[in-house]
Amino acid sequence: MKIAIDGTAASGKGTLARSLAKELGYDYLDTGLLYRSVALQAKEHGIIDLNISDKKIAIARSKIRKLINIAHLLTLPLLDKPDLRSQETSLLAAKIANLPEIRDILLEKQRLFANKPTSGLGVVLDGRDIGTIVLPDAEFKFFIDAKPEIRAKRRFAELKKSDSEVLEQTLLDEINKRDAEDWTRRIAPLKRLPNAFFIDSSSLNADEVLQIALNYING
Ligand code: DC
Repeated sequence: MKIAIDGTAASGKGTLARSLAKELGYDYLDTGLLYRSVALQAKEHGIIDLNISDKKIAIARSKIRKLINIAHLLTLPLLDKPDLRSQETSLLAAKIANLPEIRDILLEKQRLFANKPTSGLGVVLDGRDIGTIVLPDAEFKFFIDAKPEIRAKRRFAELKKSDSEVLEQTLLDEINKRDAEDWTRRIAPLKRLPNAFFIDSSSLNADEVLQIALNYING
């Protein structure tokens, strides 16, 4: 059994995917972590910016070659850690998500994971292109969204515990920017498929979203 969960940044799709997997005893993969892991390792290799339209084509090519190596060597499952969630890593991950060479390598890894769940039961994957590209054959597809202001508020509540300087308006600006990038990406953009079950989590808590999803799955 395959469950695909797509949605906007900070919509609660990750929380839903993790709790659904736990509830059903399925394997879980946060596919954003793959892009973030490539970005973090790229940073460690000195790749900070990724100006592909750089006039210095040779430099751009050598950067992409390094990224391809990093992507090939990535092994699942990946461990989440704070460095993967930093602002710098997020920005680089968004740029890396635009590179077809990297998407192809990560696509294969996501499909391998989905086809061999260690639980032997099923998988839940969350991301931006799961229902459209990674698992078009998924038995259940979800699309999760919430108003940008609500998503910024939730992220603010989460972040202010560790960062007292963070501003809600900055988070809202970032969310709007990431939405624009996700919806308009040339390759594998975020898409709300007509056959994906839509949940607007704006006025719902995590338990309510989980119950709605479980009700849908259980018919
Ligand atoms: O979901 P996230 O914020 O952790 O994702 C990190 C980046 O990777 C973000 O720029 C969107 C991109 N991404 C993607 O292009 N396709 C996916 N399946 C998952 C994430």
